[in-house]
Amino acid sequence: MQVNDVELTISALSPAQYPDTQLGEIAFVGRSNVGKSSLINTLLQRNKMARTSSTPGKTQTLNFYLVNQALYFVDVPGFGYAKVSKKARAQFAAMIEEYLQTRQQLGGVVQLVDARHEPTELDISMYDYLRYYEVPVLVAGTKIDKVKKSQWNKSESSHRKGLGMQPGDEWVPFSALNKIGQDTVWQWIAEHATG
Ligand code: GTP
Ligand code: MG
Repeated sequence: MQVNDVELTISALSPAQYPDTQLGEIAFVGRSNVGKSSLINTLLQRNKMARTSSTPGKTQTLNFYLVNQALYFVDVPGFGYAKVSKKARAQFAAMIEEYLQTRQQLGGVVQLVDARHEPTELDISMYDYLRYYEVPVLVAGTKIDKVKKSQWNKSESSHRKGLGMQPGDEWVPFSALNKIGQDTVWQWIAEHATG
C-alpha cells in the first residue's frame, strides 16, 4: 500500500469527539508497550507519526489517523499498564469498550501480542471480548525479530492455544524493525476497512 498522505485528525476521549465520517476504521489494540504505535508507523511508512516510547503508557487517547483520505487507523491506549492508577485504568477500559462496542465504522481490529511470550490474561480477555462482539480480528505476533525463525511456529501455536483461536482465525508474525508481516497486515486492513 502506497501511503501518500496521513494526518492525525483527533485524539479523542469520548464519542462526541470521534471524526464525523463514514470512512472505514481499523483499530490497533494490545498490552502497553507491545508495539502498537511502532506497527502503525511501519504501516504508514512514517517514523514519528504515532508516538512511541520505551515507557509503557505513552498513548492515552484514541488517536484517529486519516490515511490517504480513505480510511482511519485508530491507535488505542495499551491496556494493563500497572503504573497508572486503578481509576485511570478503569477509565481507559471504559473508553476502549465504548469505542469497540458502538463504532459502526469499525471494520476490524489488529490485536498485538508479544511473539516472545504466551498471551496474558488481559490478551485473552481482549480476544474473547472482540470475538463476543463479532469484531473481525487479526492477531499480530509482535517483535518477531527477537524470536529465532525456528521458533516462529512455536510462538504462533502458543498464541493460538492461549487465546483459544479457531482454525480460520488469522495470525501473522510482525516486526517494526525489519518490516516482516507488513504486506500481510496491509492486505487484511484493505479487506476490512469498509465504512
Ligand atoms: P503504549 O503506547 O505505551 O501502549 O505502547 P505501544 O504498544 O504503542 O508500544 P511502542 O510502539 O511505543 O513500542 C514500545 C517499545 O517496543 C519501544 O521501545 C519500541 O522501540 C519497541 N518495539 C516496538 N516494536 C518492535 C519490534 O517489532 N521489534 C523490536 N525489537 N522492538 C520493538
Ligand atoms: Mg502507543
